[in-house]
Amino acid sequence: HPTFSLAGKKVLITAGPTQEPLDPVRFLSNHSSGKQGYAIAQAAKDMGAQVTLVCGPCALTDIPGVEMIHVQTAQEMFEAVKNTYEDANYIIMAAAVGDYRPEVVSNQKIKKADACMELRLIKNPDILAFVGRHKTHQILCGFAMETQDLEKNAHQKLIDKNCDLLIGNNLFVEGAGFQGDTNVVCLITKDSIDQLPKLTKSELGYKILKTMSKLEKEK
Ligand code: C5P
Repeated sequence: HPTFSLAGKKVLITAGPTQEPLDPVRFLSNHSSGKQGYAIAQAAKDMGAQVTLVCGPCALTDIPGVEMIHVQTAQEMFEAVKNTYEDANYIIMAAAVGDYRPEVVSNQKIKKADACMELRLIKNPDILAFVGRHKTHQILCGFAMETQDLEKNAHQKLIDKNCDLLIGNNLFVEGAGFQGDTNVVCLITKDSIDQLPKLTKSELGYKILKTMSKLEKEK
């Protein structure tokens, strides 16, 4: 439950997967449910913030009182973030953005032909890294989903992407990850690592926002 107020603050959140189309009926995507990002948006709204949620395709219902921007691809998510990040106070990027997209998107359904087919992929923009390079006053939080060396990789990501806070997520820990209602994470800043117990995604939302407000005050 809200323990402090974010009244007067603007919070920008990305959530969900992206879908990278191949043709009119197919796409590349991932298992992200959007639940963690939505839970942060709900928490921020409950704390009185003005919230924008940029979300890829997911099965969750829009949150009343939150500005919802629905996108499909990483490039669309990038455009939405570029249009909104400048006057945000807190930015939390919880989306599972596709790293690559098909180089060519066919206008027609691709026919099956040979036993083997090649698909050429090109890199998508790294939205978090972009905001990290361009931020001024904003407090920036990223996620790192790792399957090994979580703390080391997450700390490196914090530095590489110029984040103030990184949420390290180990996919293989019970109660963590994509589809469930709980998460097991560690909070990493430039000089601290805080391993949290299993929390609901909502409790973690409050914890993240509280930590960001503390980091803002320390600045
Ligand atoms: O580099 P990696 O994908 O592991 O980083 C994860 C973090 O970066 C997440 O916060 C995710 O939302 C963000 N990200 C992004 N744009 C990408 C890839 C990742 O914003 N193209």
